[in-house]
Amino acid sequence: MTDPTAAPKKLFIKTYGCQMNVYDSQRMAEAMGAEGYELTEDQSQADMVLLNTCHIREKAAEKLYSDLGRLKPLKAEKPDLKIGVAGCVAQAEGEEITRRMPLVDLVVGPQAYHRLPAMVRGEAPKIVTDFPEEDKFDHLPQRRATRRAPAAFLTVQEGCDKFCAFCVVPYTRGAEVSRPVERILREARDLVSRGVREITLLGQNVNGWHGAGEDGRDWGFGRLIRAIGEIEGLDRIRYTTSHPNDMADDLIDAHRDVPQLMPYLHLPVQSGSDRILKAMNRKHTADHYMRLIDRIRAARPDIMLTSDFIVGFPGETDQDHADTLRLVAAVSFGTAFSFKYSPRPGTPAYDRPEVDGAVADARLQELQALLSRQQKAAQEGMIGRTLGVLFEKPGRIAGQMIGKSDYLHSVFVEAPEAQVGDLVQVRIIESAPNSLHGELAA
Ligand code: 5AD
Ligand code: SF4
Repeated sequence: MTDPTAAPKKLFIKTYGCQMNVYDSQRMAEAMGAEGYELTEDQSQADMVLLNTCHIREKAAEKLYSDLGRLKPLKAEKPDLKIGVAGCVAQAEGEEITRRMPLVDLVVGPQAYHRLPAMVRGEAPKIVTDFPEEDKFDHLPQRRATRRAPAAFLTVQEGCDKFCAFCVVPYTRGAEVSRPVERILREARDLVSRGVREITLLGQNVNGWHGAGEDGRDWGFGRLIRAIGEIEGLDRIRYTTSHPNDMADDLIDAHRDVPQLMPYLHLPVQSGSDRILKAMNRKHTADHYMRLIDRIRAARPDIMLTSDFIVGFPGETDQDHADTLRLVAAVSFGTAFSFKYSPRPGTPAYDRPEVDGAVADARLQELQALLSRQQKAAQEGMIGRTLGVLFEKPGRIAGQMIGKSDYLHSVFVEAPEAQVGDLVQVRIIESAPNSLHGELAA
Protein backbone atom coordinates (compact mmCIF):
# COMPACT_ATOMS: atom_id res chain seq x y z
CA MET A 1 0.00 0.00 0.00
CA THR A 2 1.17 3.51 -0.67
CA ASP A 3 1.62 6.00 2.11
CA PRO A 4 -0.86 8.83 1.45
CA THR A 5 1.32 11.32 3.31
CA ALA A 6 4.43 10.65 1.19
CA ALA A 7 5.40 13.18 -1.51
CA PRO A 8 4.33 11.87 -4.91
CA LYS A 9 7.01 10.11 -6.88
CA LYS A 10 7.56 11.21 -10.44
CA LEU A 11 7.03 9.05 -13.50
CA PHE A 12 8.41 9.94 -16.92
CA ILE A 13 6.95 8.02 -19.88
CA LYS A 14 8.33 8.14 -23.39
CA THR A 15 5.89 6.75 -25.96
CA TYR A 16 6.96 5.53 -29.39
CA GLY A 17 4.76 4.39 -32.26
CA CYS A 18 1.03 4.13 -32.69
CA GLN A 19 -2.04 5.56 -30.88
CA MET A 20 -2.49 2.24 -29.13
CA ASN A 21 0.77 2.92 -27.32
CA VAL A 22 -0.42 6.43 -26.45
CA TYR A 23 -3.55 4.92 -24.92
CA ASP A 24 -1.56 2.24 -23.09
CA SER A 25 0.81 4.88 -21.71
CA GLN A 26 -2.18 6.81 -20.32
CA ARG A 27 -3.55 3.68 -18.70
CA MET A 28 -0.15 2.81 -17.22
CA ALA A 29 0.16 6.36 -15.89
CA GLU A 30 -3.22 5.96 -14.19
CA ALA A 31 -2.26 2.58 -12.75
CA MET A 32 0.96 4.05 -11.40
CA GLY A 33 -1.02 7.04 -10.09
CA ALA A 34 -2.70 4.61 -7.71
CA GLU A 35 0.81 3.68 -6.55
CA GLY A 36 1.64 7.29 -5.70
CA TYR A 37 3.37 8.28 -8.93
CA GLU A 38 2.50 11.43 -10.84
CA LEU A 39 3.59 12.22 -14.38
CA THR A 40 6.48 14.53 -15.10
CA GLU A 41 7.61 15.96 -18.43
CA ASP A 42 11.14 16.30 -17.13
CA GLN A 43 13.12 13.08 -17.29
CA SER A 44 15.83 14.37 -14.96
CA GLN A 45 13.19 14.75 -12.18
CA ALA A 46 11.91 11.22 -12.56
CA ASP A 47 11.90 8.46 -9.95
CA MET A 48 10.83 6.08 -12.66
CA VAL A 49 11.38 6.17 -16.43
CA LEU A 50 9.16 4.02 -18.61
CA LEU A 51 9.93 3.57 -22.30
CA ASN A 52 6.83 2.37 -24.19
CA THR A 53 8.35 0.97 -27.35
CA CYS A 54 7.29 0.18 -30.92
CA HIS A 55 8.63 -2.67 -33.01
CA ILE A 56 6.84 -2.14 -36.30
CA ARG A 57 9.84 -1.09 -38.37
CA GLU A 58 13.59 -1.62 -38.23
CA LYS A 59 16.06 -0.24 -35.72
CA ALA A 60 13.45 -0.23 -32.95
CA ALA A 61 15.64 -2.37 -30.72
CA GLU A 62 18.79 -0.38 -31.51
CA LYS A 63 16.93 2.84 -30.76
CA LEU A 64 15.81 1.41 -27.42
CA TYR A 65 19.34 0.34 -26.50
CA SER A 66 20.74 3.75 -27.36
CA ASP A 67 17.98 5.49 -25.36
CA LEU A 68 18.78 3.18 -22.44
CA GLY A 69 22.48 3.95 -22.83
CA ARG A 70 21.65 7.64 -22.48
CA LEU A 71 19.94 6.92 -19.16
CA LYS A 72 23.17 5.61 -17.61
CA PRO A 73 24.34 8.96 -16.16
CA LEU A 74 20.90 9.57 -14.59
CA LYS A 75 20.88 6.10 -13.05
CA ALA A 76 24.44 6.66 -11.75
CA GLU A 77 23.31 9.91 -10.15
CA LYS A 78 20.08 8.41 -8.76
CA PRO A 79 20.64 4.74 -7.92
CA ASP A 80 16.98 4.37 -6.84
CA LEU A 81 15.73 5.38 -10.28
CA LYS A 82 13.53 2.65 -11.71
CA ILE A 83 13.79 2.00 -15.43
CA GLY A 84 11.09 0.05 -17.23
CA VAL A 85 10.66 -1.06 -20.82
CA ALA A 86 7.10 -1.63 -22.06
CA GLY A 87 5.52 -2.20 -25.45
CA CYS A 88 6.28 -4.34 -28.44
CA VAL A 89 10.10 -4.32 -28.21
CA ALA A 90 9.71 -5.52 -24.62
CA GLN A 91 7.51 -8.32 -25.93
CA ALA A 92 9.90 -9.27 -28.73
CA GLU A 93 13.22 -8.93 -26.90
CA GLY A 94 12.22 -10.07 -23.39
CA GLU A 95 15.20 -10.93 -21.21
CA GLU A 96 17.65 -9.93 -23.91
CA ILE A 97 16.94 -6.37 -22.70
CA THR A 98 18.07 -6.91 -19.09
CA ARG A 99 20.98 -9.02 -20.31
CA ARG A 100 22.27 -6.23 -22.54
CA MET A 101 21.22 -3.40 -20.23
CA PRO A 102 21.44 -4.43 -16.58
CA LEU A 103 20.23 -0.96 -15.56
CA VAL A 104 16.71 -1.98 -16.67
CA ASP A 105 14.57 -2.92 -13.66
CA LEU A 106 11.53 -4.29 -15.42
CA VAL A 107 10.32 -5.42 -18.82
CA VAL A 108 6.58 -5.61 -19.46
CA GLY A 109 4.84 -6.77 -22.64
CA PRO A 110 1.70 -5.03 -23.95
CA GLN A 111 -0.63 -7.73 -22.64
CA ALA A 112 0.74 -7.59 -19.10
CA TYR A 113 0.31 -3.94 -18.09
CA HIS A 114 -2.03 -4.89 -15.27
CA ARG A 115 1.00 -6.51 -13.60
CA LEU A 116 3.03 -3.28 -13.71
CA PRO A 117 2.14 -1.96 -10.21
CA ALA A 118 3.02 -5.34 -8.65
CA MET A 119 6.25 -5.43 -10.63
CA VAL A 120 7.22 -1.99 -9.38
CA ARG A 121 6.46 -3.10 -5.81
CA GLY A 122 8.71 -6.11 -6.36
CA GLU A 123 5.76 -8.48 -5.94
CA ALA A 124 5.92 -9.88 -9.48
CA PRO A 125 8.77 -11.05 -11.72
CA LYS A 126 11.00 -8.41 -13.35
CA ILE A 127 10.08 -9.62 -16.81
CA VAL A 128 6.45 -10.32 -17.77
CA THR A 129 5.63 -10.92 -21.41
CA ASP A 130 2.89 -13.54 -21.22
CA PHE A 131 -0.53 -13.27 -22.84
CA PRO A 132 -3.15 -13.56 -20.11
CA GLU A 133 -6.61 -15.02 -20.66
CA GLU A 134 -8.41 -12.10 -19.05
CA ASP A 135 -8.90 -8.53 -20.27
CA LYS A 136 -5.82 -6.64 -19.11
CA PHE A 137 -7.81 -3.40 -18.87
CA ASP A 138 -10.13 -5.01 -16.36
CA HIS A 139 -7.28 -5.39 -13.94
CA LEU A 140 -5.88 -1.90 -14.34
CA PRO A 141 -7.13 0.47 -11.67
CA GLN A 142 -10.05 2.64 -12.76
CA ARG A 143 -9.22 5.98 -14.26
CA ARG A 144 -9.38 8.59 -11.55
CA ALA A 145 -12.43 10.79 -11.96
CA THR A 146 -10.59 13.79 -13.32
CA ARG A 147 -11.53 16.04 -16.23
CA ARG A 148 -10.15 14.81 -19.51
CA ALA A 149 -9.01 16.51 -22.69
CA PRO A 150 -11.89 16.79 -25.20
CA ALA A 151 -10.55 14.10 -27.55
CA ALA A 152 -9.74 10.66 -26.14
CA PHE A 153 -8.71 7.20 -27.32
CA LEU A 154 -10.53 4.05 -26.32
CA THR A 155 -9.08 0.63 -27.14
CA VAL A 156 -11.82 -1.80 -28.21
CA GLN A 157 -9.76 -4.51 -29.84
CA GLU A 158 -6.17 -5.69 -29.74
CA GLY A 159 -3.99 -8.03 -31.68
CA CYS A 160 -4.22 -9.29 -35.22
CA ASP A 161 -4.90 -12.61 -36.95
CA LYS A 162 -4.18 -11.36 -40.46
CA PHE A 163 -0.47 -12.26 -40.65
CA CYS A 164 0.61 -9.90 -43.41
CA ALA A 165 3.99 -11.27 -44.49
CA PHE A 166 5.91 -8.14 -43.39
CA CYS A 167 4.30 -7.44 -40.03
CA VAL A 168 5.30 -8.21 -36.44
CA VAL A 169 1.98 -7.24 -34.86
CA PRO A 170 0.47 -10.77 -34.78
CA TYR A 171 3.56 -11.86 -32.83
CA THR A 172 4.02 -8.86 -30.52
CA ARG A 173 0.35 -8.07 -29.80
CA GLY A 174 -0.93 -11.61 -30.21
CA ALA A 175 -4.25 -12.95 -31.49
CA GLU A 176 -7.26 -10.71 -32.05
CA VAL A 177 -9.20 -10.05 -28.86
CA SER A 178 -12.33 -7.88 -28.75
CA ARG A 179 -13.30 -6.17 -25.52
CA PRO A 180 -16.90 -6.81 -24.45
CA VAL A 181 -19.64 -4.32 -25.36
CA GLU A 182 -20.60 -3.35 -21.81
CA ARG A 183 -17.02 -2.49 -20.82
CA ILE A 184 -16.56 -0.36 -23.92
CA LEU A 185 -19.85 1.47 -23.35
CA ARG A 186 -19.07 1.98 -19.67
CA GLU A 187 -15.66 3.43 -20.49
CA ALA A 188 -17.12 5.64 -23.23
CA ARG A 189 -19.85 7.00 -20.91
CA ASP A 190 -17.28 7.62 -18.21
CA LEU A 191 -15.09 9.56 -20.65
CA VAL A 192 -18.04 11.68 -21.75
CA SER A 193 -18.97 12.40 -18.13
CA ARG A 194 -15.46 13.83 -17.72
CA GLY A 195 -15.63 16.27 -20.62
CA VAL A 196 -14.69 14.10 -23.60
CA ARG A 197 -16.57 15.03 -26.77
CA GLU A 198 -14.67 12.94 -29.31
CA ILE A 199 -13.66 9.30 -28.98
CA THR A 200 -11.32 7.46 -31.33
CA LEU A 201 -11.90 3.73 -31.09
CA LEU A 202 -8.60 1.90 -31.35
CA GLY A 203 -7.55 -1.53 -32.45
CA GLN A 204 -4.83 -3.09 -34.60
CA ASN A 205 -7.72 -4.42 -36.64
CA VAL A 206 -10.48 -2.33 -35.16
CA ASN A 207 -13.13 -3.11 -37.75
CA GLY A 208 -12.68 -6.82 -37.01
CA TRP A 209 -14.17 -6.10 -33.56
CA HIS A 210 -17.15 -8.31 -32.69
CA GLY A 211 -18.96 -9.23 -29.52
CA ALA A 212 -22.16 -10.29 -27.82
CA GLY A 213 -24.49 -7.30 -27.90
CA GLU A 214 -26.81 -5.97 -25.23
CA ASP A 215 -29.71 -7.44 -27.22
CA GLY A 216 -28.18 -10.94 -27.03
CA ARG A 217 -27.15 -10.83 -30.70
CA ASP A 218 -23.70 -11.01 -32.17
CA TRP A 219 -22.60 -7.46 -32.89
CA GLY A 220 -20.13 -6.31 -35.52
CA PHE A 221 -18.19 -3.06 -35.39
CA GLY A 222 -20.88 -1.06 -37.21
CA ARG A 223 -23.42 -2.02 -34.54
CA LEU A 224 -21.00 -1.01 -31.80
CA ILE A 225 -20.59 2.41 -33.41
CA ARG A 226 -24.38 2.83 -33.50
CA ALA A 227 -24.55 2.04 -29.77
CA ILE A 228 -21.76 4.51 -28.99
CA GLY A 229 -23.56 7.07 -31.16
CA GLU A 230 -26.45 6.96 -28.69
CA ILE A 231 -24.34 8.26 -25.80
CA GLU A 232 -25.66 11.69 -24.87
CA GLY A 233 -22.99 14.39 -25.11
CA LEU A 234 -20.59 12.51 -27.38
CA ASP A 235 -20.24 14.58 -30.55
CA ARG A 236 -17.64 12.73 -32.57
CA ILE A 237 -16.58 9.14 -33.20
CA ARG A 238 -13.53 7.99 -35.16
CA TYR A 239 -11.77 4.68 -35.45
CA THR A 240 -8.41 3.31 -36.52
CA THR A 241 -6.85 1.05 -37.93
CA SER A 242 -8.92 -0.98 -40.34
CA HIS A 243 -8.33 -3.84 -42.74
CA PRO A 244 -10.16 -3.71 -46.11
CA ASN A 245 -11.43 -7.27 -45.70
CA ASP A 246 -13.31 -6.34 -42.52
CA MET A 247 -15.28 -3.39 -43.96
CA ALA A 248 -18.68 -5.04 -43.41
CA ASP A 249 -21.83 -3.60 -45.02
CA ASP A 250 -23.13 -2.50 -41.63
CA LEU A 251 -19.99 -0.50 -40.98
CA ILE A 252 -20.18 1.17 -44.38
CA ASP A 253 -23.84 1.97 -43.68
CA ALA A 254 -22.87 3.47 -40.32
CA HIS A 255 -20.87 6.06 -42.26
CA ARG A 256 -24.16 7.09 -43.88
CA ASP A 257 -26.41 6.78 -40.81
CA VAL A 258 -24.46 7.85 -37.72
CA PRO A 259 -24.00 11.62 -37.71
CA GLN A 260 -21.31 11.50 -35.00
CA LEU A 261 -19.12 9.20 -37.13
CA MET A 262 -16.65 11.59 -38.72
CA PRO A 263 -16.11 11.57 -42.51
CA TYR A 264 -12.60 10.20 -42.28
CA LEU A 265 -11.30 6.68 -42.80
CA HIS A 266 -7.78 5.28 -42.55
CA LEU A 267 -7.81 2.16 -44.69
CA PRO A 268 -4.32 0.79 -45.39
CA VAL A 269 -3.88 -0.90 -48.78
CA GLN A 270 -0.03 -1.24 -48.70
CA SER A 271 0.35 -1.75 -52.48
CA GLY A 272 -1.58 -1.36 -55.71
CA SER A 273 -0.11 -4.48 -57.32
CA ASP A 274 -2.02 -7.75 -57.11
CA ARG A 275 1.21 -9.73 -57.31
CA ILE A 276 2.67 -7.87 -54.33
CA LEU A 277 -0.61 -7.92 -52.38
CA LYS A 278 -0.57 -11.70 -52.78
CA ALA A 279 3.08 -11.93 -51.69
CA MET A 280 2.15 -9.75 -48.69
CA ASN A 281 -0.67 -12.16 -47.80
CA ARG A 282 -3.16 -9.30 -47.83
CA LYS A 283 -5.92 -11.55 -49.20
CA HIS A 284 -7.44 -8.84 -51.38
CA THR A 285 -6.72 -7.37 -54.79
CA ALA A 286 -6.31 -3.76 -55.89
CA ASP A 287 -9.67 -4.01 -57.64
CA HIS A 288 -11.35 -5.26 -54.47
CA TYR A 289 -9.99 -2.20 -52.67
CA MET A 290 -11.17 0.16 -55.44
CA ARG A 291 -14.68 -1.30 -55.38
CA LEU A 292 -14.75 -1.00 -51.62
CA ILE A 293 -13.79 2.67 -51.86
CA ASP A 294 -16.64 3.20 -54.32
CA ARG A 295 -19.13 1.70 -51.88
CA ILE A 296 -17.79 3.75 -48.98
CA ARG A 297 -18.00 6.93 -51.03
CA ALA A 298 -21.53 6.06 -52.10
CA ALA A 299 -22.47 5.86 -48.41
CA ARG A 300 -20.59 9.03 -47.42
CA PRO A 301 -19.60 11.08 -50.48
CA ASP A 302 -17.45 13.62 -48.62
CA ILE A 303 -15.37 11.03 -46.74
CA MET A 304 -11.64 11.66 -46.61
CA LEU A 305 -9.55 8.56 -47.14
CA THR A 306 -6.05 7.88 -45.91
CA SER A 307 -3.82 4.85 -46.22
CA ASP A 308 -0.49 3.16 -45.53
CA PHE A 309 1.92 2.01 -48.23
CA ILE A 310 5.05 -0.10 -48.24
CA VAL A 311 7.46 0.33 -51.15
CA GLY A 312 10.28 -2.04 -52.01
CA PHE A 313 8.58 -5.16 -50.69
CA PRO A 314 10.61 -8.23 -51.80
CA GLY A 315 9.95 -8.97 -55.46
CA GLU A 316 8.49 -5.50 -56.24
CA THR A 317 9.18 -4.53 -59.87
CA ASP A 318 8.87 -1.18 -61.64
CA GLN A 319 5.52 -2.40 -62.97
CA ASP A 320 4.28 -3.21 -59.44
CA HIS A 321 5.34 0.24 -58.30
CA ALA A 322 3.55 1.80 -61.29
CA ASP A 323 0.41 -0.11 -60.22
CA THR A 324 0.68 1.46 -56.75
CA LEU A 325 0.98 4.95 -58.24
CA ARG A 326 -2.02 4.22 -60.42
CA LEU A 327 -4.12 3.15 -57.45
CA VAL A 328 -3.12 6.30 -55.55
CA ALA A 329 -4.04 8.47 -58.53
CA ALA A 330 -7.39 6.70 -58.88
CA VAL A 331 -8.41 6.96 -55.21
CA SER A 332 -6.97 10.38 -54.29
CA PHE A 333 -6.06 10.26 -50.61
CA GLY A 334 -6.36 13.08 -48.10
CA THR A 335 -3.02 12.06 -46.67
CA ALA A 336 -1.09 8.80 -46.35
CA PHE A 337 1.86 7.19 -44.66
CA SER A 338 4.42 5.48 -46.86
CA PHE A 339 7.35 3.43 -45.70
CA LYS A 340 10.28 1.64 -47.22
CA TYR A 341 9.97 -2.06 -46.52
CA SER A 342 11.98 -3.11 -43.52
CA PRO A 343 12.62 -6.84 -42.95
CA ARG A 344 11.45 -7.92 -39.51
CA PRO A 345 12.92 -11.05 -37.92
CA GLY A 346 10.33 -13.77 -37.40
CA THR A 347 8.00 -12.60 -40.19
CA PRO A 348 7.46 -14.70 -43.35
CA ALA A 349 9.02 -12.10 -45.67
CA TYR A 350 12.18 -11.74 -43.57
CA ASP A 351 14.41 -14.01 -45.66
CA ARG A 352 13.13 -12.98 -49.08
CA PRO A 353 15.60 -11.26 -51.44
CA GLU A 354 15.44 -7.50 -50.92
CA VAL A 355 14.85 -4.83 -53.55
CA ASP A 356 17.94 -2.69 -54.17
CA GLY A 357 18.02 0.09 -51.54
CA ALA A 358 18.51 2.96 -54.00
CA VAL A 359 15.63 1.70 -56.15
CA ALA A 360 13.37 1.50 -53.10
CA ASP A 361 14.42 5.02 -52.03
CA ALA A 362 13.58 6.42 -55.45
CA ARG A 363 10.17 4.70 -55.42
CA LEU A 364 9.44 6.04 -51.95
CA GLN A 365 10.26 9.57 -53.09
CA GLU A 366 8.07 9.26 -56.14
CA LEU A 367 5.14 7.92 -54.12
CA GLN A 368 5.55 10.55 -51.40
CA ALA A 369 5.64 13.34 -53.98
CA LEU A 370 2.31 12.15 -55.40
CA LEU A 371 0.78 11.73 -51.94
CA SER A 372 1.86 15.19 -50.84
CA ARG A 373 0.30 16.73 -53.97
CA GLN A 374 -2.93 14.96 -53.04
CA GLN A 375 -2.67 16.13 -49.44
CA LYS A 376 -2.19 19.71 -50.59
CA ALA A 377 -5.15 19.45 -52.95
CA ALA A 378 -7.35 17.99 -50.20
CA GLN A 379 -6.41 20.84 -47.84
CA GLU A 380 -6.98 23.49 -50.49
CA GLY A 381 -10.35 21.90 -51.22
CA MET A 382 -11.38 22.88 -47.69
CA ILE A 383 -10.95 26.62 -48.36
CA GLY A 384 -14.32 28.36 -48.31
CA ARG A 385 -16.03 25.45 -46.56
CA THR A 386 -17.57 25.69 -43.09
CA LEU A 387 -16.58 22.75 -40.87
CA GLY A 388 -16.90 21.65 -37.29
CA VAL A 389 -13.73 22.20 -35.27
CA LEU A 390 -13.23 20.81 -31.76
CA PHE A 391 -10.83 23.07 -29.86
CA GLU A 392 -8.09 21.06 -28.15
CA LYS A 393 -5.59 23.68 -27.03
CA PRO A 394 -4.76 27.39 -27.20
CA GLY A 395 -2.60 28.44 -30.15
CA ARG A 396 0.84 29.97 -29.90
CA ILE A 397 -0.55 33.47 -30.52
CA ALA A 398 -2.80 34.95 -27.83
CA GLY A 399 -6.49 34.63 -28.66
CA GLN A 400 -5.90 31.73 -31.00
CA MET A 401 -7.29 28.20 -30.59
CA ILE A 402 -6.20 24.99 -32.29
CA GLY A 403 -8.49 22.07 -32.97
CA LYS A 404 -9.31 19.30 -35.38
CA SER A 405 -11.78 19.61 -38.21
CA ASP A 406 -14.30 16.89 -39.07
CA TYR A 407 -11.67 15.65 -41.54
CA LEU A 408 -8.95 15.59 -38.86
CA HIS A 409 -7.03 18.56 -40.22
CA SER A 410 -5.44 20.80 -37.60
CA VAL A 411 -7.17 24.18 -37.79
CA PHE A 412 -6.08 27.35 -36.06
CA VAL A 413 -8.68 30.02 -35.44
CA GLU A 414 -8.81 33.47 -33.80
CA ALA A 415 -11.31 32.82 -31.04
CA PRO A 416 -10.46 34.85 -27.92
CA GLU A 417 -13.71 33.93 -26.15
CA ALA A 418 -13.52 30.22 -26.84
CA GLN A 419 -12.63 27.43 -24.43
CA VAL A 420 -10.85 24.15 -24.91
CA GLY A 421 -13.60 21.59 -25.56
CA ASP A 422 -15.82 23.93 -27.61
CA LEU A 423 -17.05 22.44 -30.88
CA VAL A 424 -17.64 25.35 -33.23
CA GLN A 425 -18.38 26.04 -36.88
CA VAL A 426 -15.35 27.46 -38.66
CA ARG A 427 -14.96 28.82 -42.17
CA ILE A 428 -11.64 27.74 -43.68
CA ILE A 429 -9.78 30.67 -45.22
CA GLU A 430 -6.25 29.44 -45.87
CA SER A 431 -4.14 26.29 -46.17
CA ALA A 432 -0.69 26.11 -44.55
CA PRO A 433 1.70 23.16 -45.06
CA ASN A 434 0.37 21.04 -42.20
CA SER A 435 -2.68 22.91 -41.00
CA LEU A 436 -5.60 25.08 -42.00
CA HIS A 437 -6.48 28.59 -40.93
CA GLY A 438 -10.10 29.42 -40.25
CA GLU A 439 -12.41 32.04 -38.80
CA LEU A 440 -15.45 31.56 -36.60
CA ALA A 441 -18.54 31.23 -38.78
CA ALA A 442 -21.24 33.77 -37.98
N1 5AD B 1 8.25 -2.51 -43.14
C1 5AD B 1 7.73 -1.33 -43.52
N2 5AD B 1 6.53 -0.89 -43.12
C2 5AD B 1 5.81 -1.68 -42.31
N3 5AD B 1 4.60 -1.53 -41.76
C3 5AD B 1 4.33 -2.61 -41.01
N4 5AD B 1 5.35 -3.47 -41.05
C4 5AD B 1 6.28 -2.92 -41.87
C5 5AD B 1 7.55 -3.34 -42.32
N5 5AD B 1 8.07 -4.52 -41.98
C6 5AD B 1 3.74 -0.38 -42.03
C7 5AD B 1 2.45 -0.81 -42.73
C8 5AD B 1 1.41 -0.66 -41.64
C9 5AD B 1 1.99 0.49 -40.85
C10 5AD B 1 1.45 0.64 -39.47
O1 5AD B 1 3.38 0.23 -40.81
O2 5AD B 1 2.19 0.07 -43.79
O3 5AD B 1 0.12 -0.41 -42.14
FE1 SF4 C 1 0.06 -6.11 -39.37
FE2 SF4 C 1 -1.45 -6.89 -41.47
FE3 SF4 C 1 -2.38 -7.21 -38.96
FE4 SF4 C 1 -2.18 -4.73 -39.99
S1 SF4 C 1 -3.51 -6.39 -40.75
S2 SF4 C 1 -1.52 -5.37 -37.92
S3 SF4 C 1 -0.33 -4.91 -41.26
S4 SF4 C 1 -0.60 -8.24 -39.86
